[in-house]
Amino acid sequence: MLVVAIQETVPGERRVALVPDAARLIKKAGLDVAVQAGAGYGAGVEDAAYEKEQVAVHADAAALLAKADVVLKVQPPSDAELACMRRGAALLSFVRPLDEPQLAARLAQAGVTSFAMELVPRITRAQAMDALSSQASLAGYRAVLLAGTSMAKVLPMMTTAAGTIAAARVLVIGAGVAGLQAIATARRLGAVVEAYDTRPAVKEQIESLGARFVELPLDTSDAEAAGGYAKAQSDEFLAKQRALLGARVKIADAVVSTAAVPGSRAPLLIDAETVAGMKPGSVIVDLAAATGGNCALTRADETVVAHGVTILGPTNLPSTAAVDASRVYARNLATLLLHLVKDGALALDLEDEITRGTLLTQGGEVVHPAVRAKLGLG
Ligand code: NAI
Repeated sequence: MLVVAIQETVPGERRVALVPDAARLIKKAGLDVAVQAGAGYGAGVEDAAYEKEQVAVHADAAALLAKADVVLKVQPPSDAELACMRRGAALLSFVRPLDEPQLAARLAQAGVTSFAMELVPRITRAQAMDALSSQASLAGYRAVLLAGTSMAKVLPMMTTAAGTIAAARVLVIGAGVAGLQAIATARRLGAVVEAYDTRPAVKEQIESLGARFVELPLDTSDAEAAGGYAKAQSDEFLAKQRALLGARVKIADAVVSTAAVPGSRAPLLIDAETVAGMKPGSVIVDLAAATGGNCALTRADETVVAHGVTILGPTNLPSTAAVDASRVYARNLATLLLHLVKDGALALDLEDEITRGTLLTQGGEVVHPAVRAKLGLG
């Protein structure tokens, strides 16, 4: 069985789906591995490093895809890439199944057996395969660095001969994986940090990182869905939340917002009026930009300056840390792949929660219930 990784073609994507350490694990399970020449450069991996692990290096992506039994990718495959893949081949990748279900339909049509990294269940047994977490953690870290270099204040308190500089106030909205890492990073850099999330369970986690939990008079007793994700809230709830949270946003020097509900538009939590009330020189880093943004003024992958406030909407921060992001992502992929393989071949146990939960398309059909529902397939 041949496992293949190619160079990512989405502009700005520096990550690679396979690094030499992960290739070693896959080879140990008796599988062959090949990569496209130059695929790892953006992530600091030279071709020679793959060759050292007896990974074959080929120049031609189309030829590699055509003979692959398993394709490992970071970004969803383009139509051109999909057209090169064999019917019956497997794909392990991010594919945005709930945001772009039409791609799932095309994968089914192409006869590809696909596994969506977004669908890996958030259970203890699957932690080593959890690419949403590995990448969100790096995004949360990078978001704080970005805030630190984009705002007109410094993060830590500093005592100087010319007087004491006060620590910056950082507000983190949404304390999932990215938000918790943002809190930890901002604390390490000396900021005074507060955070809010609709899931009451995270209060303790926020406080254990040395941040203050923002208490809002909102009924959040029913905010958590099965699997630990947040439930989508009503327009009425969000309007109230915007008004209440606005007071905390206005006194922050930096806001890192990460609030998300899988498969839905990101909740709108900062309106233009609130931005107008912020201090000039402050910054919002909106990690929800790819799904519409938590701030009304966010533009995906653009820098907006309004009322002296800088609003950043980066959609691919993990790529800016491509060396580490690729290392952990490749480990996530290799762990999932080895979970699916027995005696050198794919052996899918559909009784298994991880296999069943992650499987998106098989036998020409979209099989994942939530994605079928999005496509109106019942
Ligand atoms: P996510 O990226 O879907 O959402 C980010 C955060 O936004 C979440 O904490 C969510 O509660 C929050 N949010 C949604 N609407 C909001 C609103 N209106 N206002 C404020 N915050 C709002 O979440 P992520 O980071 O993917 O984590 C999802 C869950 O999965 C969490 O409960 C996390 O602890 C859990 N998890 C469990 C793992 C495990 O192995 N047991 C591993 C990783 C995550």
